[in-house]
Amino acid sequence: MMTSLFNDNEEAAPVKAKPKRTRKTVKAAAAPASEAATPAQASFFGGDAQVLSPDQAPARMHELETELERWNYEYYVLDEPSVPDAEYDRAFNELKALEARFPELKSRTSPTLRVGGAVRTGFKKVRHDVPMLSIHTETDFSAAGAAAFDERVRSALGLSPQDPPVEYDCELKFDGLATNLRYEKGVLTEASTRGDGVEGEDVTANVRTIRTIPLRLNGKVPDILEVRGECIMHKADFLALNARQEAAGEKPFANPRNAAAGSLRQLDSSVTAQRTLHFYAYSLGEVSEPFAETQSGVLDRFAELGFPVAHMREVVKGPEALAAFHDKVAAARASLPFEIDGVVYKVNSLELEEELGFIAREPRWACAHKYPPEEVLTQVLGIDVQVGRTGRLTPVARLAPVYVGGVTVFNATLHNEDHVVNDLDLRVGDTVVLRRAGDVIPEILRVVKERRPAGTKVFEMPHVCPICGSAVIRDEEEKDMRCTGGLVCPAQMKLSIVHFAARRAMGIDGLGEKIVDMLVDEGLVKTPADLFGLTLEALTAPTTATAGSEKPEKRMGPKAAANLLASIQASSHTTLARFVFALG
Ligand code: IVH
Repeated sequence: MMTSLFNDNEEAAPVKAKPKRTRKTVKAAAAPASEAATPAQASFFGGDAQVLSPDQAPARMHELETELERWNYEYYVLDEPSVPDAEYDRAFNELKALEARFPELKSRTSPTLRVGGAVRTGFKKVRHDVPMLSIHTETDFSAAGAAAFDERVRSALGLSPQDPPVEYDCELKFDGLATNLRYEKGVLTEASTRGDGVEGEDVTANVRTIRTIPLRLNGKVPDILEVRGECIMHKADFLALNARQEAAGEKPFANPRNAAAGSLRQLDSSVTAQRTLHFYAYSLGEVSEPFAETQSGVLDRFAELGFPVAHMREVVKGPEALAAFHDKVAAARASLPFEIDGVVYKVNSLELEEELGFIAREPRWACAHKYPPEEVLTQVLGIDVQVGRTGRLTPVARLAPVYVGGVTVFNATLHNEDHVVNDLDLRVGDTVVLRRAGDVIPEILRVVKERRPAGTKVFEMPHVCPICGSAVIRDEEEKDMRCTGGLVCPAQMKLSIVHFAARRAMGIDGLGEKIVDMLVDEGLVKTPADLFGLTLEALTAPTTATAGSEKPEKRMGPKAAANLLASIQASSHTTLARFVFALG
């Protein structure tokens, strides 16, 4: 399936991108001399890293840190900057210079950590003393889903129909990565992913680059406070990131969720710093003293402490009000700056919450109420036939690109001829209903017959392989068709070599589809065995198409070629099981 994920139309969606400021570029050199005498520099210590004495440095560094974090909060959370960017950059550079001079004084909450830094080799594991559990998902998308949840809560609490309605906190269900932020005495000491709920990964350095997450909490806070929420990427940032990925010749991300996950789980935190991530707080983890009496009170306190909390939330009573919130969010969904996959209802009283407890690792006091998968109309532009590794022919509908369920879809598999002709009665030119939910592969549900143009033809599978021209036969169960060309068919040959090299097979690094295409097209490789006879000269020779021309192009660069040869050699020491699996 080919789904490319960025399309120009999507930029027209009602998504407001935050105006980009230059703050991320403060990594650059120290402030120019002309800025050296700005008013803020006339602060008590004069603000010059070079002239400060070691005993003046701690106070000045603390002052800069506090100031920068306040400006950061005003800019990123409140959206109300109080100083010009140049002023921010100057203070930032001054702090950086001081940290370089006095590394032992650098604080764990320094705003300079927000640009990321050292590359790690892996993530440390973190145990969640209060497990990060999942919530029950209501499968009925209608108002009955909300009623069923309310019914379960009432019955668990032993309430009769005469008892008053239960109060709930209604929230958005973010579609990102659940993250735990641990604050000790108000300082962010550790950030971890949910992992399997009991053990996650330490992503502290990456989380510090998220501008809206406070590094230090002001005011009176419990000695230990774990704030849980979701790390997500806004739609506009996702589209911009994919545009950059494509421009750099890199693979676009499938959806904002994958982009957020890929950005948060980066070994190089300076990469995370360049990907605008957001965090929204929604629940408490470990806390050393009572924090609030209600879930809505927890969120209010989070907001007071400077955490971003979604604006769309409501305290309501009874099941009808839950369903009304579900409807209201559905109507607002497209204009939210981020993707959600439903809403969450939580019993508002934390005392009742405790009483309700958990069953099967799911809280009885909360539930997720999702939305039905999105369906859209699009047109079938053509039906291509693809040849798989085992020679199976698969019809694939080429579609007029549409944005559905968070991605732009260009193709949809049609499985086999029988499905096209008998199940769907689909023809080139037809308008079809396409559905895609979450990570699920896009599926053509049905044809809109009323829109069928005149002169369409019933689809027929080719009688010869579209790649090699060999005869095509039907499988025994008569649904699938296969090319009889075997490894003579370049399509099968390529895919079987890709399979041979795969991680779970021979594990030849650097032998991806592109290189295999080249090797087969250049006639260097016809069977997996040929890989072991490749030479540096053959790999770095000019391509057949450009050989002898004025500007010959090399098949591969010398370094990549040498690496490939080394990993082919390394792969030859393998187990029998892997080898047999590699041969398919
Ligand atoms: S509360 C014990 N609130 O949904 C339940 N979770 O299936 C604590 N999620 O892993 C979670 N939005 O990643 C809660 N407003 C919200 C949420 C939310 C999204 C995610 C979270 C969690 C999953 C549970």
